[in-house]
Amino acid sequence: MKNFDIKTKITFGKNALARLKEIKSDKIFIVTDPFVVSSGLIDYIQRPLEATDAKITLFSDVVPDPPIDKVIKGVSSALDCRADYILAVGGGSAMDTAKAIRKFANGIDGGYMPKLICIPTTSGTGSEVTSFAVISDGEKGKFPLSSDDMLPDEAILDEILVKSVPASVTADTGMDVITHAIEAYVSTNNNEFSGALAEKAVEICGQFLVRSYADCNDAHARRKIHIASCLAGLAFNSASLGLNHGMAHQLGARFHIPHGRANAILLPYVIEYNSDIRSSSRSQKEYRSCVKKYCNIARILGVSNLNEVTTVRAIVSYLQFMMQEMNMPLKVSQVMGIDEKQYMSAIEEMAEAALKDSCTATNPRVPTKEEVIELYKKIW
Ligand SMILES: NC(=O)c1ccc[n+]([C@@H]2O[C@H](COP(=O)([O-])OP(=O)(O)OC[C@H]3O[C@@H](n4cnc5c(N)ncnc54)[C@H](O)[C@@H]3O)[C@@H](O)[C@H]2O)c1
Ligand SMILES: [Fe+2]
Repeated sequence: MKNFDIKTKITFGKNALARLKEIKSDKIFIVTDPFVVSSGLIDYIQRPLEATDAKITLFSDVVPDPPIDKVIKGVSSALDCRADYILAVGGGSAMDTAKAIRKFANGIDGGYMPKLICIPTTSGTGSEVTSFAVISDGEKGKFPLSSDDMLPDEAILDEILVKSVPASVTADTGMDVITHAIEAYVSTNNNEFSGALAEKAVEICGQFLVRSYADCNDAHARRKIHIASCLAGLAFNSASLGLNHGMAHQLGARFHIPHGRANAILLPYVIEYNSDIRSSSRSQKEYRSCVKKYCNIARILGVSNLNEVTTVRAIVSYLQFMMQEMNMPLKVSQVMGIDEKQYMSAIEEMAEAALKDSCTATNPRVPTKEEVIELYKKIW
């Protein structure tokens, strides 16, 4: 027996933020990052909230790869404030922090379960519709927490908030979207519903990601990628992810490679690994079942080729072409500030952590530690 449900109510389209005027609340607790405040993006949220007369408390301490101590600080502020709504405004880091704050606050005070509205300001994580929150614990790594009571009650997708996203963050977060879609699509937990959502997300990314990178004023492209991010989030919330995310979490925790960039670097290599196609381009008698799925992805991206082997290779080349168009590093060695010795000496522990990461459990090919080590070496 399988289930598929979308608990989060999604408000989207032009002027979606007007939804905030309708909130009935006395106290609202906003979780966000310092940039959202200093850049004035927060005004887009606070202005419509004026109509509600609610007292607003701002917690703007969120940092990328949210560490557990920030969450604990947020729990304490949230319990002091006891707002009936928590609004998360920002990228995945702000939304994940807010989800964890609500969950832990409820753990301390079982009677406290405010409504959670997530308002993404990047188009990437899909966290606004997922039951995951990825929290860092220093050297120990990044841990995806997952539970149904972390699902946001509402998500508001308004592209006005992503207009200011710089090109490099557009590239990183956009590649996170396509990784979510592809990993969910080939996950051992995939189903027809998650598949439909993932296919649409891939289609939109293929058409609009590089375009949205090239011109941040292209509102149509930005709106499309904002929607694709949410579609991919819905897909992986149902189907889960795979080894790509399991490995990327370690690169984020250890070397602070932005999440989407880490995923992007890994994606071509993980696709090749999962497909298990040998170096020749000749067709084979039998393929792993994920190869057929990758071929569907290729069809959607318009890069189908002679046979399954050349088609998988075409996806790999196409993804790296997209990355080059967006001036992204193709290898970890091209990411500024990472020392080769330090990287190589971290590989074994990263491989162990990646195998334990809950995302890896639904990868279409069961990896061994040696294989993960090999992949970490390949991407250097
Ligand atoms: N919960 C999930 O389902 C899920 C899924 C994937 C990733 N994640 C997690 O989400 C985090 C990454 O989130 P992210 O990629 O959105 O990045 P982020 O939230 O860490 O933000 C990245 C940077 O972009 C800035 N920024 C945010 N909005 C902006 C805007 N509109 N204009 C200009 N700059 C802006 C932020 O201030 C920050 O400096 C990671 O910790 C990752 O592990 C969670
Ligand atoms: Fe991700």
